[in-house]
Amino acid sequence: MTSARLLPALLAFAVALPAATPPAAPAAAAPEAPPAARYEAGSRTRDGIGKYYFGREISQVMGHLGAGWLERAEREEEERTDLLLEALRLRPGDVVADFGAGSGYFTWRIAQRVGPSGRVYAVEVQPLMLELLQANLTRRGLADRMLPVLGTASDPKLPEASCDLILLVDVYHELEFPFEVTAALARALKPGGRLVLVEYRGEDPEVPIKPLHKMTVAQVRRELAVHPLEFVENLGVLPRQHLLVFRRPAATR
Ligand SMILES: C[S@@+](CC[C@H](N)C(=O)[O-])C[C@H]1O[C@@H](n2cnc3c(N)ncnc32)[C@H](O)[C@@H]1O
Repeated sequence: MTSARLLPALLAFAVALPAATPPAAPAAAAPEAPPAARYEAGSRTRDGIGKYYFGREISQVMGHLGAGWLERAEREEEERTDLLLEALRLRPGDVVADFGAGSGYFTWRIAQRVGPSGRVYAVEVQPLMLELLQANLTRRGLADRMLPVLGTASDPKLPEASCDLILLVDVYHELEFPFEVTAALARALKPGGRLVLVEYRGEDPEVPIKPLHKMTVAQVRRELAVHPLEFVENLGVLPRQHLLVFRRPAATR
């Protein structure tokens, strides 16, 4: 193929960048992805989607049939979800987003901790997951503290500067548009608010999870470095997962 014919073919593979979308208002303008943060097409492996970001193949999304696994009785012991929740240091009145909330395993536990004056946004792309989640919180009498949000693959649909904390448990590695979503999540944080990523440890072959569903600290930090977020710490309290804390600097809008 000549280079003149190759170029359109390559462009067809490139993912539309945020700059192509006219901003609704200056404050909501999406930043343009720097060259390092652009997507590439590549070979599609069994658990992936054939789309690469910073050299990492993005994994397939867990479907709603995975809800039983998320709610399995042994999860607390295997993943020490009790320690995870403790490490978040939630306070009554906090506004939290459980992004990629699934069946609501963490949503109702967060709702309990933020109390009646707090709120939890439960963001999902799968309407069936949101239905399960809604039923889950209603059954526990916690639905009035929860705001269900049906997002899209590239837009979490969260209000700007609304959250004290945004939690992603086993979600980041399956984001189809990690640049756009992370940029939007950074904007949805209040200044000083925290973004917390929980990911199975990619450095550890003993963690019994498929490779594309794990991430290394180096990879997460590389990918998040293009956003206006500062890395705070990796809380090493969980048996299988990293608990990575980022913060929106207090000085940015
Ligand atoms: C592995 S599940 C984890 C669910 C939950 N965080 C938990 O730990 O129980 C990942 C969830 O993220 C959701 N998800 C993936 N991409 C998303 C996006 N762009 N916006 C919102 N949710 C998303 C999927 O639909 C799925 O329910």
